[in-house]
Amino acid sequence: MARKDLLDLASLSREEIDDLLDQAVPFKDLFTRSVKKVPALKGKSVLMLFYEPSTRTHSSFEVAAKRLSADVTNFDVPHSSVVKGESVRETVETLQAMRTDYIVVRHGRSGLPAMIARQTRASVVNAGDGAHAHPTQGLLDAFTLKEVFPEPEGRRVLIVGDILHSRVARSTSTVMRRLGAEVAYLGPGSLVPRNGPAGVTRFTDYEEAMRWKPEVVYLLRVQMERQDVQFFPSLREYHKVYGVNRERLKRLEDEGIWLMHPGPVNRGVELCDEAMDYERSLINQQVENGIAVRMAVLYWLKPGKA
Ligand code: CP
Repeated sequence: MARKDLLDLASLSREEIDDLLDQAVPFKDLFTRSVKKVPALKGKSVLMLFYEPSTRTHSSFEVAAKRLSADVTNFDVPHSSVVKGESVRETVETLQAMRTDYIVVRHGRSGLPAMIARQTRASVVNAGDGAHAHPTQGLLDAFTLKEVFPEPEGRRVLIVGDILHSRVARSTSTVMRRLGAEVAYLGPGSLVPRNGPAGVTRFTDYEEAMRWKPEVVYLLRVQMERQDVQFFPSLREYHKVYGVNRERLKRLEDEGIWLMHPGPVNRGVELCDEAMDYERSLINQQVENGIAVRMAVLYWLKPGKA
């Protein structure tokens, strides 16, 4: 069944996830060609509606839409009537009158993309909503995992950090588990929910987590902007207890463990400088795959009739 919107990954079937990931493969192949553009969405319009800062998601959606030959409009929130108190509903109604086909939205409030999706015939893509979901990040992570492990069944992925506030942890663990990978969470007790998803192992001790024998260590960004209280004593302490410092990097190297991070990296917090050059780091590959996966998502969705 064709979908109008992509709001989360929990509601997608395994077949839909496989279909999306398969469709991203030829789009990635396109990157090596001299002409990187296809006419798949020629004449369609994509509106970028970002109420929160973004580098990777915003730029890769923009590149993805342009490579599909769509017209892209960036809604400039800081210079819009939003600063005069215009509500999201009013903004969307106004933009709807422009008959856009796709709306890519990021907002600090969980559930806001779903609200917009109910209000518009355009296809809505959630580019991150509060601590709820970041479905395209989950898909690009799954795509990257499959490049390393074409059969992810039974592979062990350790997600480290602020699970509680992380939409990335939610979406990435959902899709990786759907592909059959085993997922564990590691972080300070205050940041790893006790009642996490069934089947996800919970660790608060780094050594114990490493004895679980992860094949991928996925560091989350510490989201200082979402924490209204301090969940750990200091960033230095966080790095010491949960970050990949030089000593731990050596261990990852010795054990052949892959490293992932959604970006942007807080250097000296989640990762030491040397980790940026680690040969099994997949961080740049994640960014590159983000374009292919977002092309697949835009191509896959079917906007409603005007
Ligand atoms: N990974 C991610 O969502 O990064 P941005 O905030 O830069 O989009």
